[in-house]
Amino acid sequence: MIETNYLVIGSGIAGLTFSVKIAERFPEKKVVIITKSNEEESNTKYAQGGMAVVLDGGKDSFKKHIEDTLIAGDGLCDEKVVKMVVTEGPKRLRELMDWGASFDVDKGGHLDLGKEGGHSEYRIVHHKDITGYEIERALLNRAHQLPNISILPHHFAIDLVTNHHIKDSESHPLTCYGAYVLDQITGDIFTIKANSTLLASGGIGCVYGHTTNPIIATGDGVAMAYRAKAIIQDMEFVQFHPTALYEAKGESSFLISEAVRGFGAYLRDKKGYRFMPDYDKRAELASRDIVSQSIDNELKKSGDTHVYLDCTHLDMEAFKNHFPNIYNKCLEHHIDIRTDWIPVIPASHYLCGGIQVDMEGRTSIADLFACGECTRTGLHGANRLASNSLLEALVYAHNIFKHLSENEYNYLDVNIPDWNDEGTTIAKEHVLIQHNLKQMQALMRDYVGIVRSNKRMRKGIKHLDLIYSEVEDLYKESKITTSLCELRNMINVAHLIIRQSLERTENKGGYFNVDNVKN
Ligand code: FAD
Ligand code: SIN
Repeated sequence: MIETNYLVIGSGIAGLTFSVKIAERFPEKKVVIITKSNEEESNTKYAQGGMAVVLDGGKDSFKKHIEDTLIAGDGLCDEKVVKMVVTEGPKRLRELMDWGASFDVDKGGHLDLGKEGGHSEYRIVHHKDITGYEIERALLNRAHQLPNISILPHHFAIDLVTNHHIKDSESHPLTCYGAYVLDQITGDIFTIKANSTLLASGGIGCVYGHTTNPIIATGDGVAMAYRAKAIIQDMEFVQFHPTALYEAKGESSFLISEAVRGFGAYLRDKKGYRFMPDYDKRAELASRDIVSQSIDNELKKSGDTHVYLDCTHLDMEAFKNHFPNIYNKCLEHHIDIRTDWIPVIPASHYLCGGIQVDMEGRTSIADLFACGECTRTGLHGANRLASNSLLEALVYAHNIFKHLSENEYNYLDVNIPDWNDEGTTIAKEHVLIQHNLKQMQALMRDYVGIVRSNKRMRKGIKHLDLIYSEVEDLYKESKITTSLCELRNMINVAHLIIRQSLERTENKGGYFNVDNVKN
């Protein structure tokens, strides 16, 4: 058992930013970060395009960024939240830079600003095309300097501890007291008891086989919060990024940043026809829901497996300077973008919904906070504006820090029973986990993708129920493993996506159901 003031689940931008701030403010308090892989592994590490921030001196304004966010969100954003996040952006960026994150500057020494889909102005600060890598590096570096932060890599949060686990506490409001944690190296399961717990566990991309996300993005936080009975909202709004690199043989989905379209690249079908102007006057720079749905439509019409991103007309020296990672990755795939078009398809990328939180990052469970991609704040509505995610995580980490600086909780005297795995045995049927994982991913791709229908989703949920009961049986009788827990979590998330999709009767942003189209 570990006791701590703050338990943070996840070491991406959300978890690290909160941890650094609270540890700096209260050097006498203990922050424990658990993270299920290496400490740097996260969606954050792979962020490419950058962070949307309105900076002084240009043509841009808060008003324009707010408007762009509201337009992308298609009427479902919470305007108060949008205003708060956008206006806080510059201060939070400054802090990140003070911790050592560096961003590209132009010849005049000012931050170099990029443009992406749905943005009316150049406002994306970036570090080449590896912005997330740089942010993660700087945050980890700062966290390592603070002696009251302990990072436990290869520690997997299995479940949150709530009243449910503690005898005689039925009369209290639903409260979180920490988490049960698997040491992935030794296989031991122990309790971390905390005065405040922060879920900063990131995305869900792996629920779909084809995703831009790394393999850690299995929706654990959303599933844990759901099982603990927190409110989960807007799960139907899964964002598909329009341009993941297409590979005939596989599932690897390296991202070709939206900033490449911001730089002037065109989308073409295999005959070379530039189709985006037919769908939206912003063409390739329409918001991501529109570009992904347009590509999906083109592929359905043609029967092709992918479309192309054409960069051949661009200034190649400038391109290589801005996007060295993308340029080299394409070369590794024998695509010379000076002469070849890049084959691309949409892939699952980001969850706009998640654990419902208020402006201070409080979930519906007392003393459980959530931050970053696992949350539904109201910023994104039905579709996230590109590069608003890193910004959201930074701003909410600050808000949670402020709340916890002013409010003290103490549960360290609560008696939490140890994890009970009596009667379980080491699972021998690993093939079942792999098989069920592939089936779940295939059904989500085929029945719950960019374009949905009630019939397909109902089929999907029936199929998912069968997988669910097989996996629950396995879970009850087996010693816990990471892959079994992750699969169980992804099934919970898939279920939430389908159920909340079926409840939505109007198409909005990233959600498109053919049965909602009015004739
Ligand atoms: P993450 O960075 O994903 O961190 C989650 C952490 O939780 C990880 O450390 C993970 O290991 C840990 N974790 C998860 N489950 C458990 C568990 N059960 N137990 C213990 N630890 C756990 N957004 C932008 O704004 N701009 C961009 O340019 C941009 N580009 C992107 C490019 C790619 C390829 C991808 C995948 C995403 C991109 N995004 C971008 C989105 C953005 O990167 C993420 O939304 C954001 O980084 C999420 O940060 P986070 O801290 O919430 O989660
Ligand atoms: C990208 O670089 O295209 C990703 C940007 C984002 O997800 O916000």
